[in-house]
Amino acid sequence: MPKTILITGSTDGIGLETAKMLASLGHHVLLHGRNLAKLKAAKNKLSAVSSDQDIEMYVADLSLMHNVEDFANTIAENHSKLDVLINNAGVYNASDPIT
Ligand SMILES: NC(=O)c1ccc[n+]([C@@H]2O[C@H](COP(=O)([O-])OP(=O)(O)OC[C@H]3O[C@@H](n4cnc5c(N)ncnc54)[C@H](OP(=O)(O)O)[C@@H]3O)[C@@H](O)[C@H]2O)c1
Repeated sequence: MPKTILITGSTDGIGLETAKMLASLGHHVLLHGRNLAKLKAAKNKLSAVSSDQDIEMYVADLSLMHNVEDFANTIAENHSKLDVLINNAGVYNASDPIT
């Protein structure tokens, strides 16, 4: 049964790959990122592997609390429930060793 799945940080890296896989399995994926152009590119990639005509995009910088609140409120307005929330957004800063 198709699930409604919000993946934060799904314009790149692990989030984007996860979004593509879940969309290809028939789930309704809600994309999120900070940049509308990257979101549109991600949506095109999902459209290539999914028949979902309504892949949603949300712009929010999660380092800004007012963006977080607006994002949560918009999701709540558009959906009575989410089946899955994948909190993926973030950066992975590997240490830079000095020898
Ligand atoms: N890659 C690894 O080896 C590794 C290892 C351990 C843990 N992780 C964790 O796995 C997650 C994904 O890593 P990744 O390597 O796939 O990262 P990535 O390729 O850099 O992608 C990061 C995603 O998070 C979004 N993002 C970053 N900062 C954000 C912010 N302030 N507000 C909203 N969205 C934000 C980016 O959106 P835009 O760029 O479109 O704005 C992008 O979609 C991170 O939480 C990271 O800490 C990664």
